[in-house]
Formats: sequence, C-alpha cells, structure tokens
Amino acid sequence: MRLIRVVICGIALTCLLVGEAAKSGRAPHANPPNRDGSKAAPTGEEAEKYIENAEKELFDLGVKASRASWVQENFITEDTEKIAADANEVLNTASTKYAKEAHRFDGLTLAPELGRKRLLLELATGFPAPDDPKAQKELAGILASLDGDYGKGKWCPEGEKGKCLDVTAVEKLMAESRDPDELKRAWVGWHAIGAPMRQRYARMVELGNAGARELGYADVGVLWRSNYDMPPEDFAKEEDRLWEQLKPLYLSLHAYVRGQLRKKYGKELLPADGPIPAHLLGNIWAQEWNNVYSLTDSPMPPRSYDLTKILQERKTDARGMVKYGENFFVSLGFAPLPQTFWDRSLFTKPEDRDVVCHASAWDVDSKEDLRIKMCIQIREEDFRTIHHELGHNFYQRAYMDQPPLFQGSANDGFHEAVGDTIALSVTPEYLKKIGLIETVPAASGDIDYLLQQALEKVAFLPFGLLVDKWRWEVFSGQVKPENYNKAWWELRRKYQGIAPPVARSEGDFDPGAKYHVPANVPYARYFLARILQFQFQRALCKEAGITGPLDRCSIYGNKTAGERLHQMLSMGQSRPWQEALEALTGQKQMDATALADYFAPLKAWLDEQNKAKGYPVGW
Ligand code: ASP
Ligand code: SER
Ligand code: ZN
Repeated sequence: MRLIRVVICGIALTCLLVGEAAKSGRAPHANPPNRDGSKAAPTGEEAEKYIENAEKELFDLGVKASRASWVQENFITEDTEKIAADANEVLNTASTKYAKEAHRFDGLTLAPELGRKRLLLELATGFPAPDDPKAQKELAGILASLDGDYGKGKWCPEGEKGKCLDVTAVEKLMAESRDPDELKRAWVGWHAIGAPMRQRYARMVELGNAGARELGYADVGVLWRSNYDMPPEDFAKEEDRLWEQLKPLYLSLHAYVRGQLRKKYGKELLPADGPIPAHLLGNIWAQEWNNVYSLTDSPMPPRSYDLTKILQERKTDARGMVKYGENFFVSLGFAPLPQTFWDRSLFTKPEDRDVVCHASAWDVDSKEDLRIKMCIQIREEDFRTIHHELGHNFYQRAYMDQPPLFQGSANDGFHEAVGDTIALSVTPEYLKKIGLIETVPAASGDIDYLLQQALEKVAFLPFGLLVDKWRWEVFSGQVKPENYNKAWWELRRKYQGIAPPVARSEGDFDPGAKYHVPANVPYARYFLARILQFQFQRALCKEAGITGPLDRCSIYGNKTAGERLHQMLSMGQSRPWQEALEALTGQKQMDATALADYFAPLKAWLDEQNKAKGYPVGW
C-alpha cells in the first residue's frame, strides 16, 4: 500500500489507475458495492464526500476512545476496562468499516491529497475486527483485558508476606542488584505475568486475522507491514538490510559485555562463547544494557560524572525532570507546553491504585490536550525517556493543523525517533551549559561516553527487530500457539545472543511480559527509530553548522536546526515518509551509516579489547 500509483489518465479528480492492489499487501478483489447496494461506479465527488465524512467521524470517535483509555490506564478497574473496551470497540469497528468501504474508490485516481487520505483510511485500523458484532465485542474485551493485566502485573516474592513489586520496582531491582540469585528470582517472578495471557492472546490473533482477511490482507502482519509507503515484503527486506549493516557492531559489543560479565559473575554462569543469560544485563527484557555499564572496565576519563547521582543530590523531582526536557524543545524555538499538560499528566506512581506505568505520550483531543503518563524515577535513564516522550508531544503539536487523517507519524519510526534525537544532544557540553555539571570530561573520554550510549542504543537493535519478527510469524500462522514460547526464545537467541536463565516451556508466555505485546503496539518502529535518530541528528548538526564528532554535537539553543526539524514534523503523514526524510536530511532512504559512523571509534576500541582479552565473538 501507499505506493506510487500507475496513473493512466490525468484528470484532476477521477481517473483510472492500475497495478495498485497487485503491488500492495492486499489481494485484488472486486470492489464492494455502494451503500445502497448498487454497483454503479462511484464518482470522484462521492469519494471526496465520503472520505471527509469518515475522517470527521473517526476523529470524534478517536477522541472519545482516547479519553476512555486514559482513564482506564490511570485507574485500572473492571469498570474502566469495560468503558475503554466499549469506546475502542466503536472506534475499531468504524475504522474497519471505512477501511473496507474505501476500496470502493480503488478504481479512481483522486487528487493527490485525497488519494493519500483514501490510502490512510484503508490503513486506519491497526487490528481489525471481523464484521460480526459478537467478534467485535470479544476482541475489544480481550485487548482491554490484556493491557489491564500488564498494568496490574506484579511479582510477589515467596516468603515475603504482603510484599509485591510492580514493574517499576522490578525494573529498579534488576538495574541495581548484582546478586545473580536475586536477579534470577526477579526475572522469573516478572515473567510469570505472561502465562495467564496466553489463551486470550491466541484468540486475539485469530480474531484480528479474520478481520485482516476481510480487508484483503493475508494476516495482521501483512497489514502492519503495509504502513511504510512500500510493498510489505520490501519492508521486511529493508529492515534486514539495515540490521546486516549494524550486526558487526552489535557482535563486538556483545562479545565485550559477555567477557566483562564473566569476570564479574564467573564461568559457571557465563559461557565463554554462548548466549548471555537474560537476567544479568540490568534490564528485565535484556533490551538495553546501560545498567551494567558500571561493571565494565570503561576508560573513565577524569571529571566523569553520574547524572543519576547529580539529579538525586539536587533533589530534582519528577516535574523538574520534565521541565529540563521541555526547556530543550523551547530552546529550539518550539512553544512551551500548555498548562493543561502540567495539570493532567501523570508523572509519579500513585500509591493507591494500579496504573499502566509503561511510559507513554498522549494527544487526547488532537489539539492542545497533550500529556505524558509515566512513573518517573529520578535517574539518567528516565531523564532520557522523558525527552523521548516529549518528542511525541511536540510532534503531535507540530502537525496539529493538518487534517485529521494526516495527523500522524511520517512512518511510525519517526514518532519514536524525535525525542531520542533530542536526547542525543544531552551531551556533557550541554549539561554544563544548563548547570548540571561543572566541568566537561576531557575529549579523551569519548570512548567512555560512546560505550554508555552503545549499551543503550546498539544493544537494543536486535531486540527492536525481533519482537515483530516473532509477531509476524505468529500472525502468519508459521508459529502456532503451542510453539509461542519456543519461537520467542529461538529469535532471542538468534538475534540477541541471549538465553533464559531457567528452562522455559509452553506453560510460559514470555512475550506477554513485555508491554508492547499485551498492549498490541507494533515494535518495528523502535528499531527504525534507533537508526533514524542518528540520521536526523547528523542532518540537524550539519544544519546548525556544528562540525566535529557527532557524539559531541548538541543542537541546544539552535533555532535554525529547530526550524528545520519543525518543518518536517509539521508535515505529519501528509506525504510518504521518504519525502519527510528528504525534507530534513536530503536522503530518501533510511541509512544506518549515521549510527555506524557515530560508533566507529568505539567499534575499533571494542575489537581491540576483545582481541587483547581473548574474548570470542558470536555464540
Ligand atoms: N514509549 C516508550 C517506548 O515504549 C517508553 C519507553 O521508552 O519506556 O518506546
Ligand atoms: N520504549 C521502548 C520500550 O520500552 C523502546 O525503548 O521497549
Ligand atoms: Zn515512544
């Protein structure tokens, strides 16, 4: 979908085009009849009216659903779950209906803007329900209950009566503990939240696939891959191409970290050349490894600093952390966040109720009602995540004046990349400028800084890739429910070189312990974002006239760069993402070289270390 269409006649509003369905993920099928049941060919004028009306209705339903979901995720109860399920059912049913009916206009070539809207309407549903009220209700109920179950998820350690840890507490423990037994218990304890989701997840897949097939897609995975302005099969190849470019860097990092953890935890726990046990990397999902930085022999430069410690010593509170983020965007020329943002956001975990703590950004009314929802801990990791979330809010606001169907990310990786790009500018020089540190570590400290960055950004790449590789296999039926967990661990091993700390079985459902699976949020976007953010940063630093190594560049306070960024953000999804990318970077392709170049000095250092210490590469 979203392809360049082969136009064979050129009148403004209506003309024939060929080749669309064949090149898209959707199987060609007969056009659905008109609403009155007649088969008369629709006119361009009809299409315009129809699309406008759909756009308006989906917008209204979207605002309602988003309010209901906000309340549900902030006060998880039976009732709020039901309310959210109802609102989302209405929205999903309507968007599926419009997606289906929009095919009536497949034979028409519409004016470019209208054509793009039709296309977006066809893709408006991310998880379509089949055309059956019972199934629609069932699907909405399952989706809300899985999301709620994740939010309520807790680990209650055996023998510690009444003490239960929610995700924030488990994250903290896994980040800080260096006791392998305790880490193992926490890992197993948290992953237990997945098992009860398994049946519902399998049923959800059946229902979504039935809905996708009614829309002409082979399965939900094809629908998801159709969102990238290129044929879906090309998208999977595109991801693999990018990954192949970065794999050598990941392998060097993996080898180094494994060797260093082996030094800490011993040969018994860590094989010399096998996969790393997933509980020893400082993160529940072993997806980012920044929390084991202190276990490495990084060449710490003089005057190095610990941002977590500084923020805590200064008694920075959650709001203060968010203010730092806002201030960065404002320095680029963006307007400050509205007062309602401060009044309505959730920054800290409430004591008295269950909430979904996984950080998220909201645009409740698609106007000014921007919010974030996050259980902020005062530490460097959250400082960065706040920039990530605010990136969503500033993007949302930048495209606010677009028509509703264009209010979205150029492709979903862009949305995830904006705030991360800004966080790349949180350099030591920047921290000094805003008074958080007094002196900047010497330039000789670049390897240390790059290692910290790589533990977060490079370590993440294969995880970012495999979550949806697993879902695509599940959606296509290649992986059946009886093999859910086995397939998950095969991918974890293959791409990440990670193994579970204890034997797993099909009585477990480990993907369920990762937010985006029960919450049904596609994940390829995070892989793309890791690549795009370096590409964006390279372009913005150039625009700002900042030369020298990219890791030292901060665009803080640079209005020229800010303007350039804003220009792209304000396009929303009104044009194919390739054009948005070109507007900012001059390139039409996602390009892993910006990331690879950024880390090139570290790669050389890691290879040297691995050689000198005799660390084998691979598993
Ligand atoms: N929304 C973010 C993520 O899922 C939150 C985080 O980084 O924790 O991308
Ligand atoms: N925010 C995403 C996650 O938490 C990617 O970092 O998985
Ligand atoms: Zn995000």
